[in-house]
This record gives sequence, C-alpha cells and structure tokens, in this order.
Amino acid sequence: MSYIRIYGGKPLSGCLKMQGSKNAALPILAAAILHPGKTILHNCPRIRDVNYMLEILKSFQAKIDWEGDTLVIDCTHLKFSAVPSVYGHQMRSSIILFGAMLGRFGRAILPQPGGCIIGERPINMHLDVLHALGAEIGERDGFLYGVCPLLKGNDFCFLKSSVGATQQAILAAVKAEGVTRLYGCAREPEVVHLARHLNSRGADIRGIGSRDLEIHGVEQLCDVQDQIPPDRIVAGTYLCACAATRGQIQLEDAPVEEMQSFLQVYHKIGGQYEVKSGKLVADSRRVGLPLPFVRTEVYPGFPTDLQSPLMAVLALSKGTSHIRETIFEGRYRIVSELRKMGAQIEVSGQDAWIHGVDALRGGRLQAKELRGGAALVVAGLAAQGETLVEDCGYIERGYEHICEDLQALGGNICREADNDIGG
Ligand code: EPU
Repeated sequence: MSYIRIYGGKPLSGCLKMQGSKNAALPILAAAILHPGKTILHNCPRIRDVNYMLEILKSFQAKIDWEGDTLVIDCTHLKFSAVPSVYGHQMRSSIILFGAMLGRFGRAILPQPGGCIIGERPINMHLDVLHALGAEIGERDGFLYGVCPLLKGNDFCFLKSSVGATQQAILAAVKAEGVTRLYGCAREPEVVHLARHLNSRGADIRGIGSRDLEIHGVEQLCDVQDQIPPDRIVAGTYLCACAATRGQIQLEDAPVEEMQSFLQVYHKIGGQYEVKSGKLVADSRRVGLPLPFVRTEVYPGFPTDLQSPLMAVLALSKGTSHIRETIFEGRYRIVSELRKMGAQIEVSGQDAWIHGVDALRGGRLQAKELRGGAALVVAGLAAQGETLVEDCGYIERGYEHICEDLQALGGNICREADNDIGG
C-alpha cells in the first residue's frame, strides 16, 4: 500500500515552477503516431498517464527516449498492433488513439474504456465523428475495432461539448482527404494546444479557439520540437492548498490566462493575487469567505477538475458555500472522506452545500480518483494532526512530484511505502 502522510496546519509559503500539463501532453503524444518521423517534446511531465501512453506507443514499435524532461519519440517504423488492454483499462483516455491509429494504420483495435469512478463517460461522440469521416466501427469481446484505409473529410456537429471527442476528430481529420468542418467543438486550452501543435508540424486547422473548426487534410506532417504547456489544473490545486492553509505562494509559469474563472473564485473567497515577473503571486491570509454559488462548466467556466480541491478549501470557510457539478456525476465520492475529517457537507444530486467548520482533523483517508485524491491532500495540509491518504497512485497519474512540490512550499508531507496501484 502506498500512501501520503501529512502533518497539517502549517500555512504554505515559497515558490514553485509548474509541471507540464497532463491533458495537453496525452493527445500530443497520440498525434506523434500520425507522422513517420520524430517528435521532440520539452517540459513533458513524467507521470503515470504519460508513461502508460508511451507504453502503448512502444507496443507499436515507437522508439522513446527521455533526456531530463525532454521526450524524444521516433515513429518512423511503426507496426500495427492492438492497444494492449492492460493500458487501455488503466487509462481511459487511450480512446484518443482511435483516430490517430486510423490515420496511420488505416485500422485500430482498442479496449473499450468503460465507465470510471468520476462518471459514466460515454464515448458515443468519439465513435460518431470517426464514423462520419468514413470509419467502419464495431465492438466485440470488450474491444473496439475500426477500419478505414483513407479517412475522408466531412461536416460534423457535436451535440455536447467534449474535449476528448474534439481532439479525436482533429487527430482523425488532419490527414483525411478533403475538408472537415467541426461544429460545437470544445474550446478547452488542451484542444487549442493540440491544434497549434499539429499546425506547427504542417497541419491546416483553421478557427483554433472557436467552437467551429475547419480542417483541410494534408498528405503528411513533419518532424517537430514543441513545448508542453504548464498545467492549469496542477497550478489550481496548489493554489487551493495555499488557500486552505492560508498561505502565501508564488507559482512560476502558471498559465494565468487559462485560470481566469478559478482566479475569480479564489478572489471571491478572499484570496489576493497578482502577476509579477511571470509569477502568480498569491496571498491567502484573508481566505475564509463562503462562496454563495459556483457551477462547473466547460471552458472558460469553472473547471470540473478543480471542484474537489475547491471543496476542501470551502470546508474550512465561514458560512455555507454551494457547488453544482454539471460535468461528471461521480465527483462527490470525496465527500465521505472529507466528512471523516469533520467537514459538514450535504449532497443532493448535482448540488453540494458545504457548511464551513473552524477546523478539520487529520484522518486515514482513501484516494478514489485523481483530483479527489489531490483534494484530500489539500484538506490534509490544512487539517490538525496527521492525515494518511491511501492509494496515492491515483494522484500520481497527474501530479509529477506532489509531495516534493508541497515540501518545497513548507508542507510537512511525504510518500511512504511503494506499490503500483493503477486506476
Ligand atoms: N461525453 C459524452 N459523450 C462522449 C464524450 C463525452 O456524453 O462521447 C460527456 C462526458 O460524459 C461529460 C462531458 O461530455 O459529461 C464532457 O466530457 P469530455 O469529453 O469533455 O471529457 P474528457 O475528454 O473525457 C477531459 C479531461 C478530464 C476533464 C474533462 C473536462 C483529459 C485526458 N481528460 O476528459 O480531465 O475533466 O476533459 O474538462 O483531457 C483529469 O485530468 O482528472 C480529468 C478527468
């Protein structure tokens, strides 16, 4: 059993540099297979989900080299194979490889990702858009099969905003024959980063950052060197840790532009911040005001991935705060763990009312998924006494060095024991 041990109650202080973004890196790694050549990525986070994706690329015979945080991927000589189910099951976002595999191999076999702890997470739109581009898709014995010797551009309208399905469509369309027009696309920064990355290697994607994209298929892409952008969710999580402990921290390279809705909430609960010489300088000494209402929304609204860390902060604010989760129905599994620490939270459907208490007490808690697990770390840093967060493998799927980072900010936190827990 691997766990994180925390002795809480100390305000965080100090300066930290942001890791590269998990959710930007994963589709960019999938994009690498579209081109029989090299992809060099700087600032790539060495986290579990990236490692799982690299294992999948290796199963296609890609050559992978790390030089510090620079990743060199050589996809010159790939051989088709099915995505190994061990990784497909570990990492739900392996589905993003479907379109890229069709683009490179003309066929794809992937394990069906299934539901996950934060919600059902259907993939209907992933499949619909690939079908619209000409793929024949079937399902047998828990595997998805796709075939299409040459994808063809088409028009497609997403009925709901989906980050993954938009990325899927982009990956499939860049080398498809003709023009693809996508309506109702997600506008999350991770979609924008993927599109810009692909354009930097010869793709022709127009309307980047808008709901409607026009993609002119190209015959080939080229080698590229790129930088994985900093992680807005990790930055927001550390800001929550600062807020919960009433600390003062500086985050170097935090993607402030992408964090506006979160920063507005931080300000509403009493946090103060400014951007100085490329650093987000945050002062949480006056945090403690309740948040009358916030709902999670698609970008640029408040991100669902920061809802749980925010809940940990509000558990220690004055009065009653109200959160509505509109994206993933399973996000409130963290509530039972926070209650063990003395938090007072009522849940009804999509809504949670958090009645702030003066103090949380440390306890033995279980991480059940990535962001909820990180939120327990936030709560533990603010709580009185010792907290153990079990199953911390979930947290390490997205946070490169959560213990070292928080130690650098003065947190009394360490990882103990070692075990390979997937999720
Ligand atoms: N949806 C459908 N059908 C589909 C696809 C999605 O109904 O075919 C629904 C989902 O069930 C959900 C909504 O659409 O209700 C939005 O889901 P989306 O597809 O945007 O999520 P995702 O692409 O699966 C990514 C991030 C998540 C993040 C969400 C929302 C990655 C690898 N994952 O997931 O990040 O919460 O967008 O911003 O980029 C995390 O990092 O912890 C994480 C879960």
